[in-house]
Amino acid sequence: MDDVVVRKLSSDEEAPYELLLLADPSMDIINDYVYKGECYVAYINKNIVGAYVIVKTRLLTLELVNIAVNEAYQGKGIGKRLIFNAIDMARRQGAKVLEVGTGNSSIYQLAFYQKCGFRIVGIDRNFFKKHYKEIIIENGIKCIDMIRLSMDL
Ligand code: COA
Repeated sequence: MDDVVVRKLSSDEEAPYELLLLADPSMDIINDYVYKGECYVAYINKNIVGAYVIVKTRLLTLELVNIAVNEAYQGKGIGKRLIFNAIDMARRQGAKVLEVGTGNSSIYQLAFYQKCGFRIVGIDRNFFKKHYKEIIIENGIKCIDMIRLSMDL
């Protein structure tokens, strides 16, 4: 695999919506956190292959609100690389906790986050029912609750 370079997107650059929509079906919700947070993008040569968005939610807490890797590049370690980049960046900003949430139906993502060191800390019941207009079904399971995971930095 060629070298992956991760850099922060500047405020005058457009967020990689096509990628972010892989992780989140709601454009309104994406626009809201892209505006509030910081977006980081992974490149191979000059092609965007992955991205994540991180938001400061409390004094010493950051939340990873979106992470996505281009389908053709998944399973090659880029997602893990983005998580480690987010951890490093959060530590450098002085944060003590990094949080993430995923759907009860997102079986692979739950494995992925735990392999990266996150631990399950709770369930935000009915989160997707309350905040998403569209019905989300993955792995034959209706996505209703958000599984909350966290990592001490
Ligand atoms: N099924 C199960 N495990 C898999 C897998 C698959 N299809 N593909 C990769 N993995 C494992 C890898 O083996 C690796 O584990 P290891 O450290 O034990 O080797 C681990 O997951 C990390 O893999 P990596 O290659 O870094 O993941 P990725 O680049 O595919 O990125 C996602 C992971 C979730 C970001 C990516 O799949 C994606 O963009 N999915 C669509 C968007 C999405 O769902 N985002 C998250 C929303 S909550």
